Amino acid sequence: MLNLRIEDRNPHLKDELHEIMVENKDIFQSVLNGEDEYADSLGWFSVDKWASHEEVQKLKKLAAHIRENADAFVIIGVGGSNNAARAVIEALQTDDKVKIVYMGNTLSPYELTKALKELEEKSVYIDCIAKNFETLEPGASFRVLRKFLFDKYQEKANGRIIATGTKGSALEKLCEEQGYTFLEFPEDVGGRFSAMTAVGLLPMAVAGIDIEKLVLGASDMQKYLTSGEIVRNPAYQYACLRNLYYKKGYKIEMLVSFEPQFRWFYKWWIQLFGESEGKDNKGLFPSSGDFCEELHAMGQYIQDGTPLIFETFLDVQEKNASLAPVADMVKDGFDYLNGKEFWDINKASFGATVKAHREKLPCLILEVERLDAYVFGELFYFFLFSCYVSARILGVNPFDQPGVEAYKKWMFEALGKDRKIS
Ligand code: PA5
Repeated sequence: MLNLRIEDRNPHLKDELHEIMVENKDIFQSVLNGEDEYADSLGWFSVDKWASHEEVQKLKKLAAHIRENADAFVIIGVGGSNNAARAVIEALQTDDKVKIVYMGNTLSPYELTKALKELEEKSVYIDCIAKNFETLEPGASFRVLRKFLFDKYQEKANGRIIATGTKGSALEKLCEEQGYTFLEFPEDVGGRFSAMTAVGLLPMAVAGIDIEKLVLGASDMQKYLTSGEIVRNPAYQYACLRNLYYKKGYKIEMLVSFEPQFRWFYKWWIQLFGESEGKDNKGLFPSSGDFCEELHAMGQYIQDGTPLIFETFLDVQEKNASLAPVADMVKDGFDYLNGKEFWDINKASFGATVKAHREKLPCLILEVERLDAYVFGELFYFFLFSCYVSARILGVNPFDQPGVEAYKKWMFEALGKDRKIS
């Protein structure tokens, strides 16, 4: 199970953490008891509700059919509708049986044309994932892809279209009329909380990810976080620490690691915390750092710039590959690496970074066993749970996103959405 370590030079941290944990224990308890106020957004809280054995088997069966017949699968979705699946697929997909292509997340004609070009010679299936089937980006891409499929497969195109929407939605109606496969996007799960529903699980399974393992990881984490002693609960500690640091003036949290496999996971995490907490003129700004790469860029600012940042490291415990920079005949000045493997060198770099950064800023370290589907399940649940608790401590509604509507209003006006067409 995941372990939380704290590297902080503040001699009073232990007491301060204890204090904030005591102060907010009623919030934590009401989260565990189930809060009526948020009942319509808590479908994810019990993993089994939308990722039951039957549901997972159904999704696996559909994914197996797609894997049998497709060599490209397009995820049409934006934000919470594609980030979780992409986080796992980009980290863990090991076969190239089905190429996963992302659309519905941009309006750039250059990018969309490039994606279509990639699909030209392939056998294509698509999944339009849209909770609110009014979002422009996926809606526009769905049009383009329907045309693409009809031009390519004529009346057989419908059998290649899956749509994931809420029950009773316009998207479901479309599926009934056109004979597309319909999957349910749970009404009581917001996009950014939807990793363990058909939204995240079908695309992952199409990419060959073991979704049973992922769901098991999430459900084990659920058990772990919802039982046991409150003072030892790592998600509650993490939520309290975030709020403590925020109050102390650290306004930016960077999620960082020395494993580039987490690159797309950062994006999922950034959306989760940014959209859940950034409201009412409050909230930590979530950011990320892909180390070592960014030690040679943002490393300067982190160590030496405005003291606004604290870091949360993801540290993988189990060795994931064996490779050594073995010496050759060339005198290159790197003989101090002789006899060492990259695993140890990478770990030395991690240890050195924490030693250096902790002199300036708080460093939290989340140790995870390894990097596989099970651990991704654990991580998803850990952060979803922490985010809910953290937002409640901050005093904001974790499940809405009123700020996103502002740009949409002006965009719809610019495009004449509600103008009568004569
Ligand atoms: O987390 C959220 O609720 C949002 O990020 C949505 O996932 C995103 O806006 C996409 O919404 P929809 O699926 O309705 O197109």
